[in-house]
Amino acid sequence: MLHYEPKDLAVPEVHRLLLGGVAPRPIALVSTISKDGMNNLSPFSFFNAFGANPPVVAFSPSRRGRDASLKDTYNNLIATKECVIQAVTHSMVEQVSLASAEFTPDVDEFIKSGLTPIDSDIVKPKRVKESPFQIECKLIEMRSFGEGGASANIATCEVLKFHVAEDIFTNGIIDPIKIDLVARMSGDFYSRAGSGVFVVEKPIGKKCIGYDQVPKHIRESDIYSANDLGKFGNSESIPNENEVHVFINKINEEKLEQFEKGFDAFVRYQRLNDYKRMLKAALEIDSNLKRNLELTVKCALQNNDMDFAWKAALYAEKIK
Ligand SMILES: Cc1cc2nc3c(=O)[nH]c(=O)nc-3n(C[C@H](O)[C@H](O)[C@H](O)COP(=O)(O)O)c2cc1C
Repeated sequence: MLHYEPKDLAVPEVHRLLLGGVAPRPIALVSTISKDGMNNLSPFSFFNAFGANPPVVAFSPSRRGRDASLKDTYNNLIATKECVIQAVTHSMVEQVSLASAEFTPDVDEFIKSGLTPIDSDIVKPKRVKESPFQIECKLIEMRSFGEGGASANIATCEVLKFHVAEDIFTNGIIDPIKIDLVARMSGDFYSRAGSGVFVVEKPIGKKCIGYDQVPKHIRESDIYSANDLGKFGNSESIPNENEVHVFINKINEEKLEQFEKGFDAFVRYQRLNDYKRMLKAALEIDSNLKRNLELTVKCALQNNDMDFAWKAALYAEKIK
């Protein structure tokens, strides 16, 4: 590990560490209006939401690193106390980047970026038509932390109105693939968030057994990863011996259509993610039973079939 205290580093180095390690960051595309009525549009990735009652978001239009001057977004917010924040999708990311160029305060960044301004319902700043998620906000407070270059000005805002496209929902939640958001990482790197989506079951409301209660032989297997063990620890109970026995008997007796025996078939089922056939094949191969069972368990875990994974893992424990 490398170890640093901020006081020993130049500000750009501190900034680079934060950009790389506090990532991926959501991007707020912030629309404000000057007291003379000029539109402003700029992206900010030091941004997040902090509560829902009332809905509160915050972002940081920091002082410019170069000369510690204040950005137009900051000045507009102080003057008018209003903004609209939009989520940034992959289809608009180049235009959003263009909006971050340093145009003078008399330049309308909607025109420069080619993004389309539409009226808001409550606040004066315009919304960006291309974004499927737009929130009209009022400034609650602006807090400044330092006066040097790259120092933070945290604008905390209350959401007054949400505008959300109907077609980004699946089963009542915003679908991460349909919304196709991008996030900011270090340097010039962005992440297309929908491409890396996976599921982690929430432990909330569950009495999880915890990592420490996962049986020792499972914890000590060199087949399971730390994430696999975390999934076991996220369970509420461990099947008993009889349940394992019934499960294995059922698999042994079950007639599966076009089932093939042998190690080649086992490997083929593994590639197909078919852990049920993997288990049946493993039970019929004479050698390496424990290892093949554990590979089967791993496949069941990848498919979040915890009941199957537990029973097969506990059966594997009995094999010498
Ligand atoms: C994706 C992205 C994220 C950014 N995040 C921030 C940020 O969190 N804080 C900040 O001060 N500037 C950030 N910037 C730079 C500002 O967008 C840039 O300084 C812009 O010119 C400010 O515009 P303004 O003077 O019109 O407010 C970011 C730029 C990009 C492209």
